[in-house]
Amino acid sequence: MSLGKIIDKKNKNLGKLINKQKVPEHVAIIMDGNGRWATKKGLPRSFGHNKGVSVLKDIIKASKKLGCKVLTVYAFSTENWSRPKKEVDFLMNLFNEVLKNEIEEIHQESIKIKFIGDLTPFPESLKTTLNSSEDLTKGNSDFTLNVCVNYGGRQEIVKVAKKLALKSISGEIKPSEVNEELFNSELLTQGIKDPELLIRTSGEKRISNFLLWQLAYSEIYISEVLWPDFNEDEFLKAIIDYQSRHRRFGGIESLPNKSFEDSFCSPLNKYD
Ligand code: FPP
Repeated sequence: MSLGKIIDKKNKNLGKLINKQKVPEHVAIIMDGNGRWATKKGLPRSFGHNKGVSVLKDIIKASKKLGCKVLTVYAFSTENWSRPKKEVDFLMNLFNEVLKNEIEEIHQESIKIKFIGDLTPFPESLKTTLNSSEDLTKGNSDFTLNVCVNYGGRQEIVKVAKKLALKSISGEIKPSEVNEELFNSELLTQGIKDPELLIRTSGEKRISNFLLWQLAYSEIYISEVLWPDFNEDEFLKAIIDYQSRHRRFGGIESLPNKSFEDSFCSPLNKYD
């Protein structure tokens, strides 16, 4: 029986199945399915985005309660500009309104909010709201909410490559000094630990240009649920599934009562 089915059977109190010692510090989420959720209900897509906001609020609370320290969400990708202007304008307005209405509570909850992406093309009023929200909450340390807006993983990597190339030309660094650590220090996420877990909703099995560098070793959990239907229980299912994974980071797992020599078969060993 799959873990999902076992969890569904015991669905009474998922919190009891959580190992508090193995809660991921940083969870990243691709909040997908707002449009489909609304369309299925015969509603305009904007209803899906509105419901998506209230789900995001619930998941921030749930992850903070669980003991996670950082939540990074994909709110607007560099590719989302290709949507009809009406939807893009709606989303810009939604981000602005939601932040204006919620920032005091976010601050009271000691949450630091950070926007990751190129804010330049956003309307001035939205830029002002984003910057003042970051400013207000920058001293908070209980929990960090990173909101990726006009964000693209490839664009981020290209920018770092350009920056390091320029630093090499100017003699500030030697090309031989370029390594993962230096590269990391120029990313928009510098100073933020990589996510241990990526959740994507709506059953799509893609990364969609999200945190390409940072997700190198993250566990991936695909939820079939559309984002507006996602909730604390679905979030806990993702955490429980994550806790059942064996993270090897390219190494090998040591087997109980077996030495490496016992479990390793050299090319000279016969199969029989
Ligand atoms: C993906 O669903 C969702 C988005 C592109 C927008 C997500 C934004 C929010 C939930 C609001 C967040 C608000 C703040 C202030 C951070 P989709 O439209 O791609 O759905 P579809 O794949 O079904 O079309």
